[in-house]
Amino acid sequence: MGFRYDISFAGAVCENRKPETGNRFSRLLWRECDETGVSLPLLAPPTISGGKQLSLENALMSFLFSPATLGPLKLNNRLVMAPMTRSRADGNIPGSMVAEYYEQRSGAGLIITEGTAPSPNGLGYPRIPGIYSCEQTHAWTNVARAVHSRSGKIFLQIMHCGRIAHPANMPEGARILAPSPVAASGEMYTDSDGMKPHPVPEEMTAEDIRDTIEEYAQAARSAFIVGFDGVELHGANGYLIEQFIRPNTNLRTDGYGGTIEKRARFMLETVEAVAGAIGSERVGIRLSPFGVFNDMPLYDAMEDEYGYLARELDKTGLAYIHLVDHSSMGAPVVPDSIKDTFRREFKGALILSGGYDAERAESDLQAKRCDLVAVGRPFIANPDLVERWKTGAPQNEPDMSTAYSPGPKGYIDYSTMEG
Ligand SMILES: Cc1cc2nc3c(=O)[nH]c(=O)nc-3n(C[C@H](O)[C@H](O)[C@H](O)COP(=O)(O)O)c2cc1C
Repeated sequence: MGFRYDISFAGAVCENRKPETGNRFSRLLWRECDETGVSLPLLAPPTISGGKQLSLENALMSFLFSPATLGPLKLNNRLVMAPMTRSRADGNIPGSMVAEYYEQRSGAGLIITEGTAPSPNGLGYPRIPGIYSCEQTHAWTNVARAVHSRSGKIFLQIMHCGRIAHPANMPEGARILAPSPVAASGEMYTDSDGMKPHPVPEEMTAEDIRDTIEEYAQAARSAFIVGFDGVELHGANGYLIEQFIRPNTNLRTDGYGGTIEKRARFMLETVEAVAGAIGSERVGIRLSPFGVFNDMPLYDAMEDEYGYLARELDKTGLAYIHLVDHSSMGAPVVPDSIKDTFRREFKGALILSGGYDAERAESDLQAKRCDLVAVGRPFIANPDLVERWKTGAPQNEPDMSTAYSPGPKGYIDYSTMEG
């Protein structure tokens, strides 16, 4: 069964049709946006794919705390808050605590939210948010508004977990889908039953593939309408897009499996649909070449194949590619050569991430190895990380035991320099 939530309001507003022509959600959303000042994006209908390439301001500006241009956006600095799942979205709805968390961190030049499911089938972990129901979409309005009220910028990370999921973490009727019926090794935490083995996913049919791509596009439309500055597609860390790319999880013999050209097709068609929905200059993608998270082993052709992805993505006009490097978390080293390949082949912005401190960020930016630097764990514990890095002030250490626990502890109670 495909999920067909009533999210047609998003398309209606997006096309700037009068709200009376939409359903009741369309009218509600229109009025709320109008009253709260997040209506700006609604007045400018999204551009169509193939939009303007990113042009970052050059030379003099290429330092960590200097402003940058990302597509149509002006960023206050080049420090990006990396996407981090925090499991505080009870009922998969990002409530007021989530808005407060992101508002506290809005000193970042750009925030990329935690992975967010485009449909019930895209859920996987406990308490992660979605953007497929009206309640969720309305709740995200508050998050975008909170960050904008502090002059921040925010992209929504769209994450479809694919096989990295458990039915206990999903609503009834949701399906665990993947390119092929290959279960991930290991277990997943569930609130109801503790650790459980990953189930064998269902192999996606051609119709499932079409529906899922449309879910990504609809999620992007909804994000744009409620005020996000753009979206990041999660093509990293063993989730659905990467499950199509990698040969261990994609055993298909149709047009979506086999050669790298075919394994890349799901990613490229998703990029095209999402860019078509909100404009390529508002879309980025995160990739993890040499990443092994979620049972994704290394293989010989990996470097060549990711070079192909870099060249193909360059043709799409995306705002940025964001590379993951989890070697500081004990994962294999990501060779510099693959980062250099992305830098050379992709003309949009490059974001590097993984184990950065201020000094290394400054050095990589000055060396033009990347345009922006994304930082994860330090942002968990330091809402005012930008100020701390600017002034060389000491940092709070993150308490990883509360990384995914429900409630405010270890989430919105980290101190700033002011107390
Ligand atoms: C608690 C936690 C949750 C994470 N969730 C996500 C996620 O939802 N999406 C994603 O792309 N990466 C996720 N990551 C990876 C981070 O974005 C980042 O790549 C990683 O923390 C390494 O950067 P750092 O050394 O600056 O922390 C997560 C990391 C942590 C620590």
